[in-house]
Amino acid sequence: MRVTWGGPSDSLRDIYEHRGELEYDEPGVLPDPRLSRKFERMTALVAETLPAESLLDAGCGDGRFLAGLARLSDRPTHLVGIDISQRILDTARRWAERDGFDVELVRANMEKLPFADASFDRVLSVQAIEHLLDPQAGIGELARVLRPGGKLILSTDSSHNLVSRTINAPRAALVGILRLRGRRLRVHFPHFQFDPDELVRMVEAAGLRVEHRETFAFHVDGLSTPVVARLAAAADRALSPHSVGDIVAVVASKGYADERT
Ligand SMILES: C[S@@+](CC[C@H](N)C(=O)[O-])C[C@H]1O[C@@H](n2cnc3c(N)ncnc32)[C@H](O)[C@@H]1O
Repeated sequence: MRVTWGGPSDSLRDIYEHRGELEYDEPGVLPDPRLSRKFERMTALVAETLPAESLLDAGCGDGRFLAGLARLSDRPTHLVGIDISQRILDTARRWAERDGFDVELVRANMEKLPFADASFDRVLSVQAIEHLLDPQAGIGELARVLRPGGKLILSTDSSHNLVSRTINAPRAALVGILRLRGRRLRVHFPHFQFDPDELVRMVEAAGLRVEHRETFAFHVDGLSTPVVARLAAAADRALSPHSVGDIVAVVASKGYADERT
């Protein structure tokens, strides 16, 4: 596979190599959907669109979503993951080898994907576009490599995360007063939030039709124990559907040329 570079986020490659070394050095265990609403909802949103022949996971990280999808009975036969970090892809490769599934892993910047137009039936991207210096270019590339009739399943951070913001407000105020913000971050990289309406506009600007959107996930800063995660997931599930979660997800489809004219 010929690697093509050329997007503004190329300049962040070394930062993500470093992040891979610090945070994604070993394959992990599959997240428990009872504790991770992100894993539960994103896997379910993809599963609802199956069967499909091919799926690209863009910004696949350590490959946990690919590993989850590989376990589905009607999994796509051709799984491909891309990430900007070779180090992180090495971990994804070891995860796939350990679980015994086939996946093609390619180092690339989402802002300029090394695939021909209309290469994939499904494109998944979980929590990656918020790290791009040009997220509209990234979404444009996800849409370009999608086949007509195909679907994009995309999630990112929502700026309407009112529940978590309210729960965490006292702690956030204290962190601000004591000037501790960012102290625990070992690597600094861009991290934006998206207004859900704006995200829909960006996906539509890339030529796709948004069929579904939802928000999910609450969190408590500094308390990432399984008990807290289970309670937060249960509260989110009980309140769902709502528009105030930490994560906004959309499912969008690509029409055929004669539909778009
Ligand atoms: C928050 S992680 C999410 C990983 C995975 N999708 C998940 O949800 O477990 C973001 C991932 O996007 C990758 N990434 C950041 N910028 C990228 C870019 N411009 N092109 C491709 N991947 C990128 C990072 O290396 C990282 O693995």
